[in-house]
Amino acid sequence: MNVEQETGQKEMELNPAQTKEAMDLQSKTPKVDRENRETVGDVRVDDPRMRCTDINVHYGDKHAIKGLNLDVGKKEILSMIGPSGCGKSTFLRCLNRMNDTIDSCRVTGTIEMDGVDINGKSIDVVPLRASVGMVFQKPNPFPKSIRENILFGPRIHGLATDKDDLEEIVVNSLKKAGLWDEVKDRLDQPGTGLSGGQQQRLCIARTIAVEPEIILMDEPCSALDPISTAAIEELMLELSESYSICIVTHSMQQAARVSNRTAYFHLGDLIEVGTTDQVFNAPLHQLTEDYITGRFG
Ligand SMILES: Nc1ncnc2c1ncn2[C@@H]1O[C@H](COP(=O)(O)OP(=O)(O)O)[C@@H](O)[C@H]1O
Ligand SMILES: [Mg+2]
Repeated sequence: MNVEQETGQKEMELNPAQTKEAMDLQSKTPKVDRENRETVGDVRVDDPRMRCTDINVHYGDKHAIKGLNLDVGKKEILSMIGPSGCGKSTFLRCLNRMNDTIDSCRVTGTIEMDGVDINGKSIDVVPLRASVGMVFQKPNPFPKSIRENILFGPRIHGLATDKDDLEEIVVNSLKKAGLWDEVKDRLDQPGTGLSGGQQQRLCIARTIAVEPEIILMDEPCSALDPISTAAIEELMLELSESYSICIVTHSMQQAARVSNRTAYFHLGDLIEVGTTDQVFNAPLHQLTEDYITGRFG
């Protein structure tokens, strides 16, 4: 048995929702039919940080997101799962208008952040992308020193000019990203010289340095070893005390370990949303069950 299977099994055993009674009830409850593409579960939360309403995304003729409604809560970790090509990254990019950078891409619908339409005419994408920061699959530090990686954003956004204030941003961001102890003696060395896991934490520190509200992560651990992955997951749990985190992950174990809510996507449709416990232990839609039991994807 490999480590992932072992971990998965342990989680199942420890999960109180996975009692025999719950399992029996679940197996007796009829699932929503595979043909039904209306989202099952509560897409809305009280007092959301972000609210998406009737989002459609097209790349030319390709309809990549179909009429999606979904809220992102404050200080929650929301994971997006589903088979490759189902639209997870496309949806994530809607939240900080990264799709604007793709010529063929057209986004319709409304995305409000704290009640303000992020696609509104008066919105400047530069500060938007600071408040909705993004961490990518492959760590991508700038070819600059560790210190300058952190200070790049704060300088652009004019967050500080004073030398001491800038240094405080460097120290605090690296501390919050759990990297300070490992790099405090080499701040002027290149960020690209760090290990993969350290580089990813540097990218997270760089995101934090501009005081975001939301951090988007698109498969942030898929290029990392299990120890670095564990460090990032621990970090995410700490960061969620201050920020909302939306994470796309291929690993159902990871979604189960870190997230409060889970959204399951299938071919451009948001099929099911619920607490992570519910989605994994008692999915309501047949397509969700197919995916989490390994029958699809
Ligand atoms: N830049 C692009 N140009 C054209 N089609 C794209 C582009 N990016 C994604 N797509 C298409 O949109 C769909 C959703 O892709 P994506 O959001 O990357 O899925 P996921 O992240 O779930 O794997 C896929 O069919 C993909 O081929
Ligand atoms: Mg993707």
